[in-house]
Amino acid sequence: MLIRGGPTEVVNSFAEDVREGLGRAGQKELPSKYLYDDIGSALFELITKIPEYGLTRAEERILLRHSEAIAAHLPTHGMVVELGSGSGKKTRRILEALTRHRPTTYCPIEISSTALENCERELNDLAHVSIVGFETEYLDGLSRAVARRRPGDGVVVLFLGSSIGNFDRGPGEDFLRKIRSDLKPGDALLLGTDLEKPLAQLIPAYDDPLGVTAVFNRNLLARINRELGGDFDFSQFEHVAHYNARQRRIEMHLRSVENQTVSIEGANLRTTLRRDETIWTESCHKYGRHEAPAMAVRTGFECAAQWVDDEWAFAENLFFAV
Ligand code: AVI
Repeated sequence: MLIRGGPTEVVNSFAEDVREGLGRAGQKELPSKYLYDDIGSALFELITKIPEYGLTRAEERILLRHSEAIAAHLPTHGMVVELGSGSGKKTRRILEALTRHRPTTYCPIEISSTALENCERELNDLAHVSIVGFETEYLDGLSRAVARRRPGDGVVVLFLGSSIGNFDRGPGEDFLRKIRSDLKPGDALLLGTDLEKPLAQLIPAYDDPLGVTAVFNRNLLARINRELGGDFDFSQFEHVAHYNARQRRIEMHLRSVENQTVSIEGANLRTTLRRDETIWTESCHKYGRHEAPAMAVRTGFECAAQWVDDEWAFAENLFFAV
């Protein structure tokens, strides 16, 4: 079963965020969540396949090798809620392990309806799993999902793929606190964190030679053209991915190759970009190995276990709500 649509303020905020982010005087910026429309989500699936982007394969290896061990930590649980399920492929293994001995309701939360449909198709053959998907934002979906919890049910939240890294560090911890506020003591959170690694490995992961990440990034301008009647000329924007060593994050930008004016009718905006001025579209924070356990303590959890891949520095962290 798929439940469509979040509150209207969620649905209507794109135009407002575009007007605010591109109309400002200093660094222009667009929230990274808008990268993930149906086309952007499909492009992100492609990114996960390119040789230079090792993050998803690292997590898949961890889930493949350790899903039984992860499941063994979890007491009888009735509900698995996944924040940003994507196609659901990486979730199969862990769901199989979790549901071997108990019926489970799986609630994928997605803002892309196509990704949500693919996820349901991908996983609907699993025995003992009933799927209730929510097409909405993470926290809205989480609170609607846990409202369906039956007495005695435990909740396991999956926040995989290092999506936490797309938040700044402070807001990321605030986000974990909000997750915690929807949970009860003993509920679990499985959190993926991509770890710091050499730049020679990191930069090509976000600026791949095939140019898939560049298309993913430019699709945000195409989305503005499609949905808000913008007149961006994509050929006038270059994809940029650089590492901010102080903040320990990759920053993705779109750099204007010349002075230009852009009109976006649906956002009631006409804005100018100077040559070399950038629009900041995403941050991907990288973590020390001990950072997630420390974050757990600050946000109302404790970290019970951590698994690290040996080919690509990536950690899967198992938190319990205290
Ligand atoms: C979704 N998220 C975890 C990806 C990342 O690596 O931060 C998004 C991404 N952007 C460009 N490539 C991948």
